[in-house]
This record gives sequence, structure tokens and C-alpha cells, in this order.
Amino acid sequence: MNLFIKKPIHQLIESADGGEYRLKRSLGALNLVSLGIGAIIGAGLFSLTGIAAAENAGPAVVLSFMVAAVGCAFAGMCYSELASMIPVAGSAYTYAYATMGEFFAWIIGWDLVLEYAVASSVVAVSWSRYVGSFLQDLGIHIPARLAACPFDVIHLPDGSVTHGLVNVPAVCIIILISILLMVGIKESASVNDVIVVIKLLVVLTFIAVGVHYIKPGNYVPFIPSNTGTFGEFGFSGIMRAAGIIFFAYIGFDTVSTAAQEAHHPSRDIPRGIIGSLILCTVLYILFALVLTGMLNYKLMRGDAAPVATAINLTPFPWLHVLIKLGIIGGFTSVILVMLLGQSRIFYAMSRDGLLPKIFSDIHPQWRTPWRSNILFMFFVSFFAGFFPISKLGNMTSIGTLLAFIIVCAGVMILRYTHPDTPRAYRCPCFPQFPILGILVCLAMMTSLDGETWWRLVIWLIIGLIIYFTYSRFNSHLCQKLKKKHH
Ligand code: ALA
Repeated sequence: MNLFIKKPIHQLIESADGGEYRLKRSLGALNLVSLGIGAIIGAGLFSLTGIAAAENAGPAVVLSFMVAAVGCAFAGMCYSELASMIPVAGSAYTYAYATMGEFFAWIIGWDLVLEYAVASSVVAVSWSRYVGSFLQDLGIHIPARLAACPFDVIHLPDGSVTHGLVNVPAVCIIILISILLMVGIKESASVNDVIVVIKLLVVLTFIAVGVHYIKPGNYVPFIPSNTGTFGEFGFSGIMRAAGIIFFAYIGFDTVSTAAQEAHHPSRDIPRGIIGSLILCTVLYILFALVLTGMLNYKLMRGDAAPVATAINLTPFPWLHVLIKLGIIGGFTSVILVMLLGQSRIFYAMSRDGLLPKIFSDIHPQWRTPWRSNILFMFFVSFFAGFFPISKLGNMTSIGTLLAFIIVCAGVMILRYTHPDTPRAYRCPCFPQFPILGILVCLAMMTSLDGETWWRLVIWLIIGLIIYFTYSRFNSHLCQKLKKKHH
């Protein structure tokens, strides 16, 4: 029975509102939209769009963006309802603890490592590509083997073919940001606001300039016919590409992690989530239309910096530099937010006794969970250094889709178990929307490749082993219950 022990909702809310650990309430609706965009626009848009177009969907990647947006919209509404009902930090992990019990909370917390930590590696790899392209413009060349992982095939100038060694720039940016987080960079909303404005300008400029360089021939065929393999073009390709570029939408849920820092969480968190999702969806669809119109999808194969390639087709050298710099800066903020989110989730789990205390050890002077930051620095840089972006991206997507499904299910459970708890925001069309959210996310999950599924299964098995050998016996909630029975 202890497996499904739940944290009482009123206790969660009370503990969030008092005590010395109370966070400062300083964010309004606009700040929250900005926080969302800061976490959302990143490698998914600037790197995976090209890869998904080249390998799975062709120009129809535009349709994949629409499919993924639908799944995110349903999940976003469910997140909003939970966040307005339980406006505390910890996001999906906390919601699951209150709704489905400890076992599911553990699964989701463990699964969120794929969302936050592995996503940081994806963005770091993409960062490395854009930095490489930028330095090349300045005449500086990073040796190709030191900017690629052992799975990447490299064509050397002398015509020979080899493999990468380790992606050094990607490892460096992870180390740098981890150190920043350790010494206590305050995730200042105003710095984020500046980066968000830059990112939006980059996307808008790309759309506005690129639209003049579209060659209509690149849209033909709009949906290339399936090659005979599931996921390679045709309808299954559109769905698989949706699963891949779903990565581009990840991040709106980080708005809910700021619930304790919002002035009016119940009202503004839903606004932040839904506002940032709508804005990004419109921009993504236009962006994908322009990118696939400028550059033939076949030419984007293996290109993790397709925007750099496309923008090089325009005759404005200053634009090359500005857009690449904007993208590099934008990625930096995504990595920062993701690594921060990761340390917060593990901090919450460690405070609940589900993980060792090392994850909630606070440095006496820096006031940050520095040991946790160091451990994740190694973990994330290992992935960023040695794995290719597409595999890492798919792992993040499948992990996050699973989290979204659990959140949609959580809304349904709470409507039945806690019908009277106030909800400032209610997901409309209940129960159809949460059910549709589960179905669309499941459809994207099933369209991802078998290897990705295996990785998810192995990851979850490791999680279960830790839960049944450690967390269950150390859970503070279970220990309290045991004491009561004695
Ligand atoms: N959505 C974020 C990105 O695309 C994770 O980088």
C-alpha cells in the first residue's frame, strides 16, 4: 500500500506558503510568458527542424509542428489546471505525489531527468554546431573530430571519411553553465527577458528575410512518399517527425515550476503556459515553412545548424553573424533553465527522502545545491560529448511525452477524487481534452523508433531498481506513516 502513499494537497500548499524557504513572489503574467519562451525556443527549432525534414517528413515537417502543437495544447491545459490547483514548485513530480502517490511521483521525477538533463545535452550539441559555424565565419576552424561524437561520420577535406572523438565545445558549455549555477547565478527575470527579445528577433528576422529567398520548387513534393520504411516520409514520417520536433515545444512546463515565485499563480501560470505555447506555435510553423522553402530538405541531412546554412544563402554577411550570435545566446539560456530545473526536481525528491541527501546539500556560502550541480555536470557532459543529437533528442521527447501523459491522467484523477478543491483554471471540455492529450502524446511516442523505446525502458528499469532498493525505505512520508503505526 505504501507504494501509492500521497502527499495531502493542503499540506503542500501550506508548506509552500510559509517557512524560511519561502520564495519571493515577483513574477507577473508577462514575465511568465517570457520565462516560457526562454525555455522553449532552442535546439528543437534551430537544429531538429532540419534533421526531421531531411530524414522523416520533408517540407511536411510544417504539419508535424501542427500535430505536436495539438498534443502540447492539451497537455498545457492540464498542466495549467494542476498548477492553478497546487501552485507549488516541483511541477509534475509534485502533482503526481499529490494525485497518484509516491510510486508514480518517483517514475515521473526519474523520467524528468530525460526532459531536463538530457535536453541540456541536446542543446549543448546544437550550441557546439552553431559556435563552429560562427567561428568558421571568423576564419577560426575547430578540428572536426573534436567537435563531433564517435557516432558522427566526418568527411575530411582530403576526401577520407572518419568518426568524431568527443564534442569538446558541447562539454565546455555544460561545464561553464554548471559552474555558474553552482556559484549561484540568480535566475534573474530581466536577463531572461533580454535573451527572449533577442531570440524572438532572430526568429522574426529569419522569417522576414528568408521569405524572399523561398524557391517554390523546394516544396515539391510537399509530402514525399514513404520509402517503404515506417517513419521515412509519408504519413508515418509526419508522425515520427512530430515526435522528434516535439522537443522544440518542451519548456512550457517550466513555467509551472515558477508557481511559488508568481504574484497570482492560479491566474497567471495558465496565462504563462498557454500564452507562450500559442506564440511559439505560430512562429514555429512560419519558421518551418520558410526554412524548407529556402533549403531543399534533402540538403539538410545531418546538418545540425540548418539556419546557418540557409542564412548563408542570403547576401547579407552581417545577418549571418547576428543570427548565429542570437542563436548561440538563446541556447545558453535554454541550457541554464534546463539544468536549473533538473537540480530543483532532484532537490525536491531528495528533500522527500527519495534520493540521497547529496542532492539537497546546500553550499554554506553560495546557497546552491552545488554537489548536485557537479554530478549533473558529469552526467550531462558525458552525453553531450559522446552521443549524437538525434538520439539524445528522441530520448528527451519520449521521456517528456510520458510525463505529459501522466499529467493529463492526473487531472482526470483529481477531478474525481478532489472535485471540490478550488481550481482557478479548469481544463475545458473535460474529460475529452485530457483524454485527447493522452492519445496524441501516445501517438507521437509510438511513432518514435524502437531503439528510443528501448532506451526509455532501460532508463525506467534503472529507476525502479533505485526505487525498490533505496527510495522506498528512505521516503520521509513512508517513515512518518510507519512511526504512526508503531
Ligand atoms: N524546447 C527546447 C529546445 O528546443 C528544449 O531547445
